[in-house]
Amino acid sequence: MSNIESMDPEAIAKWVQEKTKLRPVFGIVLGSGLGGLADEVEVVDRISYSDIPFFPVSTVAGHKGEFIFGKIDDIPVVLMNGRVHFYEGYPMNQVVLPVRVMAFMGVKSIFLTNASGGLNRSYRPGTLMCINDHISSFIPSPLIGPNDERFGPRFPAMNAVYDREYIGIMHGVAEDLGIDLEDGVYLQVTGPAFESPAESRAYAMLGADAVGMSTVCEAIVLNAMGIRLLGLSCVTDMAIDNEDIVATHEEVQEVANQASRKLIDIVKNTVIRICKA
Ligand code: HPA
Repeated sequence: MSNIESMDPEAIAKWVQEKTKLRPVFGIVLGSGLGGLADEVEVVDRISYSDIPFFPVSTVAGHKGEFIFGKIDDIPVVLMNGRVHFYEGYPMNQVVLPVRVMAFMGVKSIFLTNASGGLNRSYRPGTLMCINDHISSFIPSPLIGPNDERFGPRFPAMNAVYDREYIGIMHGVAEDLGIDLEDGVYLQVTGPAFESPAESRAYAMLGADAVGMSTVCEAIVLNAMGIRLLGLSCVTDMAIDNEDIVATHEEVQEVANQASRKLIDIVKNTVIRICKA
């Protein structure tokens, strides 16, 4: 058994790999209300975050915390069922620790999912949006601090964070399944407060189509590590024109649960099409 002395993702990945024989090629991060995918993989092993040394554990109701190792149509995958958020008080380098651990497990591709508030006025609660770019300007960079070359270069490019070939495949899958899929820009804020109407208008003017409290920090560190990424957001409520609307965490989870069938179908079939191509 490895002895882990620090919060090092490579050492933690080795520790986790001693607990399972499965060697995943694809990682999938499940956002709020989207954990249903866990019921559709052939589960081989489950490892609770609370059992992993130095791992951050979610403090939010409805957010689980475990790695699920399993197979989708014989493809070895690892699911991150639950993530921690910056608003919980963890520093950024701890928020992104779990996805870095996945990268050190040897996955080459990661699918990030989340729930978000709609800023594009053509969206509705339940809209699914393929994340084709992001805005990170309202959160601290997860790359601040001394650079560790194992995590990528000091000044990584962010011109194509979400893999263009994969995006094309995901759109093909959605079309074949008859599921509407938008393409848009996701902006991460720290939360935990939902946006004021003026904030939502400001983010929309900056070019964002959806706003949420996760994902971009993960995408930045994973892109810096050379992982091929996909992002899929479930718009659970409209953040724009919300003067008379009270946003709630319960509503976010309920709409995510309702839309999760479609989201799960897109994620599953996209992973299959990418890996069996
Ligand atoms: N704002 C921020 N994050 C969110 C929202 C929202 O309206 N909905 C789900 N996550």
